[in-house]
Amino acid sequence: MAQDVYADDVRMEQAEARALFLEAMSRVAAPVGIVVTDGPAGRYGITVSSVASVSADPPMVLACINQRSPIAGPLAANRLYTVNMLSPAQAEMAERFAGRDGRYPAYDFGCGAWHAGELGEICLEDAIATLTCTPEQVVQAGTHVIVIGRVLRTVVRDDSALLYCRREFCRPVGLSASA
Ligand SMILES: Cc1cc2nc3c(=O)[nH]c(=O)nc-3n(C[C@H](O)[C@H](O)[C@H](O)COP(=O)(O)O)c2cc1C
Repeated sequence: MAQDVYADDVRMEQAEARALFLEAMSRVAAPVGIVVTDGPAGRYGITVSSVASVSADPPMVLACINQRSPIAGPLAANRLYTVNMLSPAQAEMAERFAGRDGRYPAYDFGCGAWHAGELGEICLEDAIATLTCTPEQVVQAGTHVIVIGRVLRTVVRDDSALLYCRREFCRPVGLSASA
């Protein structure tokens, strides 16, 4: 009995620590993108806020993908994917590729305009940056895999970034604009 109370306390502490961690991370403003892959293992896309630059020489980026997401396996197996960074006008696309609440059909590529890149990769029209990658390392980390991709091709467009902060989509505002 005493042991059960102790186990309950530990579980409670772990739940509180987890909630606090999520709360802390909700305050980290992050750019939003859609990672897309197509090939023999299938066509998938997923909204991510975990994209980060790893290296410029050679150019490499990472994205953290939940191992339970259907895209996790195909991303490595197809050997080619794009990281499409979004603008505020594309927030609804981010919602759709986040598959939340089953509100939208899964992998609804019809909700945006796509074209094939020089390497046959799928690129989102009007993304503020599209990075075409081949996976170089896949590192298991907790519930996720860190997919580190070598960037083979980069396309940029001049527009503002879509951010996610405090559980909502927002846009960056320069400090001089709010003075
Ligand atoms: C703003 C935002 C950022 C997200 N970032 C990530 C991420 O970096 N990695 C991830 O695995 N899931 C992330 N998700 C969750 C996935 O988009 C979502 O769980 C997934 O698309 C669900 O569909 P699935 O059933 O195909 O996995 C994010 C969701 C939102 C709304």
